[in-house]
Amino acid sequence: MTLTAVPSQTLLNPILEIAGGRSLRGELGVSGAKNSALVLMAACLLTRDQIRLRNVPPLTDITAMGEMLASLGGRVVRKGDCLELDGDHINNSTAPYELVNSLRASFFCIGPLLARTGMAKVPMPGGCQIGSRPVVEHVRGLKAMGAQVTIEHGVVQAVVPGRSHRLKGGRIHLDCPSVGATETLMMAAALADGETVIENAALEPEVVDLAGLLIAMGARIRGAGTPTITVVGVDRLHGADYTVIPDRIEAGTFLLAAAITRSELRVAPLIPEHLGAVLTKLEEAGCRLEHDGIGTIIEARDIQAVDLRTQPFPGFPTDLQAPFMSLLATAQGTSVITENIFENRMQHVAELQRMGAAIRLQGNTAFIEGVSRLSGAPVQGTDLRASAAMVLAGLAAEGITTVRGLEYLDRGYANLEAKLASVGARLQRVSANSQLLQAA
Ligand code: EPZ
Repeated sequence: MTLTAVPSQTLLNPILEIAGGRSLRGELGVSGAKNSALVLMAACLLTRDQIRLRNVPPLTDITAMGEMLASLGGRVVRKGDCLELDGDHINNSTAPYELVNSLRASFFCIGPLLARTGMAKVPMPGGCQIGSRPVVEHVRGLKAMGAQVTIEHGVVQAVVPGRSHRLKGGRIHLDCPSVGATETLMMAAALADGETVIENAALEPEVVDLAGLLIAMGARIRGAGTPTITVVGVDRLHGADYTVIPDRIEAGTFLLAAAITRSELRVAPLIPEHLGAVLTKLEEAGCRLEHDGIGTIIEARDIQAVDLRTQPFPGFPTDLQAPFMSLLATAQGTSVITENIFENRMQHVAELQRMGAAIRLQGNTAFIEGVSRLSGAPVQGTDLRASAAMVLAGLAAEGITTVRGLEYLDRGYANLEAKLASVGARLQRVSANSQLLQAA
């Protein structure tokens, strides 16, 4: 099998060509957490001082958030894996539609903008492939803190009345433990007048990471990582130098790369407490895991079917549902996966079926009968994690798989090809209209 050598050039309609069926060996490095770094960047709006964030992954979503902050008057400079953020010249409280529509996380700026300037105009984040993505909880919470919020022409307009334009502490009970709402309200409460209690808060590690940064900036927060978060507002926040946690979803994706190719790999850094449910399911499926304090060594031989249901943290994370389904498509026996978080996050099923997976879908429940071998095929990634699932399936499949939808992949996985190639995978990014692999 020869991989066509493509000279390095800007590729038109890039696709990923994967020659599957190879076992992997070595170590995969995990970058900083996308879903933490994005909200930590928004927190820079809360202070005039400079914030330095370390271990920030080089992703298109991070670039987009930087553009968002710049549109509000913020300054973002990348120095290696550090970002230096300066919110001193925030001079605009209106976020541009194009940026919010392309990056949902930019909506999380509404809380810090309101806390900093007393007003915010932020377009509703569009729905996306996986669901409608409402922001009702964010709005309800800001109203409970004294903001007047209207939604007109798709734009959320919030203003804090009164001379001081300062939010006031309040008690908020979230109808669902929304990660984004918990983060938005924690940031808004940090500068509010008085105490805010957020009940039924999200428990995700990224929420705890945000609390860590805010506390480093002088915020008074307790209970992050528990269902009840208490924030006592302060008059101002100062700069900080903070390191982003490792990306648990990337780490989980790499563990699954080892499992689906029946290989032994070390994945580091990896914080086991951030992936408890996933590690349990991997062991249940037959993988041997060994944690060495920094990373995890995974060894996979025979993979057995397991059942899983996505839940808010510490339950099984929805972001690893599609990647895990690729593994179970090659397991011995029949698995059942139920997606409980997003209403439309099963689009990868059709793509896996094109590769020979035996999956029956009933609403948001997939019945997966493992097959001995997937077969390479042209497939399409439909969202960030579905694209990752197709790459994993391609690593295990017989023959060549070409994955479209790299614009999704690049949102959440930095240097994915180079990392996988470094442990023996045969893959390359080529132009969709180039001659595909020569099957020798
Ligand atoms: C965050 O999205 C992550 N994104 C998502 O990761 C992740 O899948 C999700 O949390 C769940 O873990 C970032 O952190 C940038 P939610 P978020 O609000 O905050 C419903 C990826 O692939 N809901 O916790 O938008 C909502 O419809 C992305 O990296 C309401 O009903 O998620 C969904 O069903 C995808 N009302 C559930 O809660 C609301 O007001 C979870 O949403 C808000 C949310």
